[in-house]
Amino acid sequence: MALPSGFLSELKMRCDITDVVSSYVNLKRRGRNMVGLCPFHSEKTPSFNIYPENGSFFCFGCGVGGDVITFIMKIENLDYIEAVKLLANRAGMSMPEDSYDDGISKLKGRILEANREAARFFHSKLMSDEGKTAQEYLIGRALSKQTVVRFGLGYAPANRYALCDHLRKKGFKDEEIVAANLAFKRSSGKGIVDRFSDRVMFPIIDLRGNVIAFGGRILTDQKPKYLNTSDTLVFKKSSNLFSLNNAKNTGLRTLILCEGYMDVIALNAAGFHNAVATLGTALTAEQALLMKRYADEVIICYDADEAGQKATAKAIDILRNAGLIIRVLNIPDGKDPDEFIRKNGERGQAAFKNLLESSGDDVEYRLTKLRQRHDFNRADSKANYLKEAVNIIANLDSAIEQDIYSSKLSEEMGVRKDSIVEELNKVKSSRRRDFAKKEFRKVTSDLTGREEKLNPQRRENMRAARAEEMLIAYIFHNPDMLKKAEKLISASDFVTDFNARFYKYIVEQIGEGLSPDLNIAQDFTPEEVSRFYSIINTYNSQTATVGAMGEYIDTIKSEKNKLSKADLSNMSPEEIMKNIYSKKPKK
Ligand code: UTP
Ligand code: MN
Repeated sequence: MALPSGFLSELKMRCDITDVVSSYVNLKRRGRNMVGLCPFHSEKTPSFNIYPENGSFFCFGCGVGGDVITFIMKIENLDYIEAVKLLANRAGMSMPEDSYDDGISKLKGRILEANREAARFFHSKLMSDEGKTAQEYLIGRALSKQTVVRFGLGYAPANRYALCDHLRKKGFKDEEIVAANLAFKRSSGKGIVDRFSDRVMFPIIDLRGNVIAFGGRILTDQKPKYLNTSDTLVFKKSSNLFSLNNAKNTGLRTLILCEGYMDVIALNAAGFHNAVATLGTALTAEQALLMKRYADEVIICYDADEAGQKATAKAIDILRNAGLIIRVLNIPDGKDPDEFIRKNGERGQAAFKNLLESSGDDVEYRLTKLRQRHDFNRADSKANYLKEAVNIIANLDSAIEQDIYSSKLSEEMGVRKDSIVEELNKVKSSRRRDFAKKEFRKVTSDLTGREEKLNPQRRENMRAARAEEMLIAYIFHNPDMLKKAEKLISASDFVTDFNARFYKYIVEQIGEGLSPDLNIAQDFTPEEVSRFYSIINTYNSQTATVGAMGEYIDTIKSEKNKLSKADLSNMSPEEIMKNIYSKKPKK
């Protein structure tokens, strides 16, 4: 399936990359370009570049690059057609007819429809006589009808064919129901059965209002307590959060991060609409970056048990890396937020508000945990505690924060602040050395690693590969020079096959009168697309002359020539003969 070029050109023209990216990333001007913190990996100094002149972006930190369509695909987790649709919508353009026949897009659409229908079905079952026990269960957990409706909660009937039958009647095919993970094939191989039965159902809704998955809780003490939709074409557990669709509308820029569905729902019922939860797995860096788009601060509110505290320590690192401010809320008596609010009855809301207000930042949390592990009656333990506390303080980015905690530590332990600061400076300078070394090694090895993985011939043919890349960039930026170049070189003269593909591609595009990267996101893999924009933005040869073009071409040809000579020297006389004669042009 291909979209008409005229449509794509207009779309790209109307969706200015700077405008589009600005709604996700804070951009600052730097010379002709714009820079910001990369939304695709965690970083503290900006290496994410926007090139308004050619409508592309590239991150020197993680090597991701592309055009405006690729950007939307990545940041919104969409496929090509979906990203184009989103942009068309934004630009007020309607999609061309017939652009629907893409198989995957169509199936994704069907999965979303099946999920929506399933949510409706579960909800109506909950409200019916069949849902009596489930209703009682929810009442037992202090949920009002209003909350049930707000979250669209439902009930999956005990009959294991109820949903399948319903969806079939609504015109869904078995394969679609299975692809949505609402049912699975029976082990006998005949027919399908519902995935969820006799459970309270929690629909998971994405930021565009689609029902993308479900969590289902059993009504008894049986196991598993919760069953969740596995990853499907429209759902990735590790990159979604429960109730972010509600939380993002509060406009608060603070999120409360909980462990479970019921915690989020109880908090909402108590008026805290900015609560979210992970979906049955540990917090991921992707989820942290997603939160960063809607919040500056996250309050971690995990269960008070040991597992919850371990998870808290991990979450602190992940959230800090994403550049979020962190607070940690301590729930007394080993409870989770849902139980805490319920146990406090009428006072639940006020009591939780108190906890929120008294929650300390992540450093205080870490120092408290550290203190609990040390018994200050032992002589060496005071020194050990001080050492480890200084290590924690050295992790802070801000000098002010470091100063505040050094003072606190000095008072707490009765040690002169000078000696704490001295220790702190030692730790910091040794870390700086290590860090600089590691960073440098990492950046250079990541970069060459990425280049070599895509273009395995590059390492052995560096001179040729560089010249090829400069030629590609030159023609990209000066398409009017193609005519001249074509007289001197063609893709088959290239040394590395990978670069030859790019060259061939832009030659074809320009030949058809199109912008050289118009369809690139459709014709190359995301890694290849990134590499393409890395090349054209590294050699942004605005000033390169026709003479330079000639030099690139000469280099490529002479390297190719050397190579074929080298080939010949390794060959047996028979092979040479065969080689020469097979290459002879036929008259
Ligand atoms: P918890 O066991 O803490 O659940 O698991 P909870 O929210 O307190 O549940 P209630 O109050 O007993 O109803 C936290 C989260 O871990 C996931 C779910 O997302 C749950 O909300 N989980 C837990 C599962 O996915 N499967 C399980 O079997 C248990
Ligand atoms: Mn609970």
